[in-house]
Amino acid sequence: MDRIRIVGGNKLNGTIPISGAKNAALPLMIASLLTEETLILDNVPRLADVAQVQRILGNHGIDIMSAGKRPGDHEYQGQTLHISAANIIDTTAPYELVSTMRASFWVIAPLLARMGEAKVSLPGGCAIGTRPVDLLIMALEKLGAEIQIDGGYVIAKAPKGLIGAEIDFPKVTVSGTHVALMAATLAKGTTVITNAACEPEIVDVADCLNKMGAKITGAGTSRIVIEGVAKLHGARHTVLPDRIETGTYAMAVAMTGGDVQLAGARPELLQSALDVLTQAGATITPNNEGIRVTRNGAGIRPVTVSTAPFPGFPTDLQAQLMALMACAKGSSHITETIFENRFMHVQELARFGARIHLDGETATIEGISKLRGAPVMATDLRASVSLVIAGLAAEGETMVNRIYHLDRGFERLEEKLSACGATIERISG
Ligand code: EPZ
Repeated sequence: MDRIRIVGGNKLNGTIPISGAKNAALPLMIASLLTEETLILDNVPRLADVAQVQRILGNHGIDIMSAGKRPGDHEYQGQTLHISAANIIDTTAPYELVSTMRASFWVIAPLLARMGEAKVSLPGGCAIGTRPVDLLIMALEKLGAEIQIDGGYVIAKAPKGLIGAEIDFPKVTVSGTHVALMAATLAKGTTVITNAACEPEIVDVADCLNKMGAKITGAGTSRIVIEGVAKLHGARHTVLPDRIETGTYAMAVAMTGGDVQLAGARPELLQSALDVLTQAGATITPNNEGIRVTRNGAGIRPVTVSTAPFPGFPTDLQAQLMALMACAKGSSHITETIFENRFMHVQELARFGARIHLDGETATIEGISKLRGAPVMATDLRASVSLVIAGLAAEGETMVNRIYHLDRGFERLEEKLSACGATIERISG
């Protein structure tokens, strides 16, 4: 199994290109199932999760063509996928394909909306909590689907098609909103989603669906209205930049010190995180090419932060912020409100010497002046990258084991960081 070796202590200086957002690319690829025409997606990141959705779509009989590079194209521009769901040959998504990634469960919505039936294995994904799908099922039932759970599979049927409805989510859910949105595009009549997730990835998917002929208004607010249409058609759409990758590198620079341009990043996608970084002592300068992050001289200031749905501080940056606060001058408090078990990085950060005390949902971090490199291992994607950030700032060598989680969500991580002066390499085998 591959590992990443880091020798910490170097400041980061240079430019890091920001890739397309994983959490938009996955539902956008899944939305291709809604039409028999071709959906072209630009700026799709080259990630293990993207390859996994390609396999899942392939199992339904979908053709995917990845356009080759043209002269002048750069690797970091992301790939262009031509996805054609002209013939769906199978409406079952089996356990072997769905169990490794939670987002793959979302195929249930377009399969049901277009084909009137779907049989999808209950999902797996990062070990960050129980992560049920009750709200996704509730949304599909509101739209008129009949649902049974049998043998680990969710079996959904709507032989006469879905019917527009009012869907009021008792808690904000990104997955529930994606599923309701996709399913409602082909339902008869009007659907109103209230307490909808406002995440930028929801807006990106809604924009793409509208290009495909859907009638969606209000995406990006907590009330989304969808007028169902009989058919969707092909379209071309560019995946928005990854706000979590942006925030992760911004935190890495805040931690090591230095001066890095995050090329292609959009500040409005992560304003709450940028505000926290400013509070912590980094200088954040939005410009025409993206966001410049610098930290010189002064130490890291402690912060008190709670994760929250967008536009609040994202849970997907909680682990990275904790790594940063491990070296703050004083005590920080970080409360996780989205997932009940997203603290697996705490014991691994302790291997660097970090002093973190957990009390329920809140971690108190007593900053120390220097972390020391260590062998570490993480059990989920964002936790893994928090260990990389800690390793970049720590004295001596860090070996991050079990890095397949990193490959799920960070494109060319070692290359991007080493181009900015980090000593980081992948060791194969
Ligand atoms: C999405 O997960 C992201 N995944 C996650 O990113 C992200 O952490 C999360 O949203 C929150 O922003 C993708 O977009 C692929 P939710 P999702 O439905 O949709 C509970 C990463 O590292 N809930 O908003 O699964 C749930 O347990 C990943 O890239 C129910 O109770 O999150 C959680 O407590 C990790 N019942 C809360 O809602 C349900 O039916 C929010 O979950 C559904 C969710």
